[in-house]
Amino acid sequence: MRKKVTKNTLINMKKKGEKIAALTAYDYLSAKILDNAGIDLILVGDSLGMVVLGYDNTIPVTVEEVIHHLKAVSRAKPKALVVGDLPFMSYQASVEDAVRNAGRLVKEGGAESVKLEGGERYVPVIEAIVQASIPVVGHLGLTPQSLYQFGGYKVQGKDEESAERLFKDALSLEKAGCFAIVLECIPWQLAKRITEGVSIPTIGIGAGPYCDGQVLVMNDMLGVYENQLPKFVKTYDEIGERMKKAFESYIKDVKEGKFPTFDNSYSVEE
Ligand code: KIV
Repeated sequence: MRKKVTKNTLINMKKKGEKIAALTAYDYLSAKILDNAGIDLILVGDSLGMVVLGYDNTIPVTVEEVIHHLKAVSRAKPKALVVGDLPFMSYQASVEDAVRNAGRLVKEGGAESVKLEGGERYVPVIEAIVQASIPVVGHLGLTPQSLYQFGGYKVQGKDEESAERLFKDALSLEKAGCFAIVLECIPWQLAKRITEGVSIPTIGIGAGPYCDGQVLVMNDMLGVYENQLPKFVKTYDEIGERMKKAFESYIKDVKEGKFPTFDNSYSVEE
């Protein structure tokens, strides 16, 4: 039986040069399958707003929605570390909000750590959450909650000035007490520099091969999400297509009276 993964496990993996494999999950069943497959970290990301709830982006996601899905995932009692995403406006307005909402993800949702987006400006928030004994994962680069600020989903840190700022942000997050940093959609050269410059693990998504680990949205890598995917996603299956075929076969069987048969039926003595 594999051992429970903690934040220290992940830090030690970086020290030993072992790659960290992370994926998102939003429900009991997929968390169970994912955990049995041996994943290191399960992120209940606010991406749930798009891939599960059908929102256009992650902005509308609420703390209640994250807690609802976190509860389902934590009921699977994964050996993987469970990270709950703090949604938009659950930590931006004040340090008090941030600590209270992070606490709710842990206490009500069963998260073992929380993730929040943003750089140096969030140092006081991160410090306060860590002081409340809640481990924090940072998130830099293309942070989807800043969609309107960025004016779209664009690769970040491409020029020298923004690359330097992101590098400094990473150092600040480490100093503030983050135990890992997600790096999203930045040039691989910058991701490499950050990975070498911090002692905590970096977990990339669209950040090239030099990060200490990798995360993807489960629905994207399974090929279930029907929207166009960014180039950093590798699809490992076409589950959406396979689901459609299964549904079509079921519908055909029902319409043609081929299902149910007596084999699928109960009977009594006449
Ligand atoms: O919400 C999410 O799933 C994320 C990952 C894409 C890193 O933040």
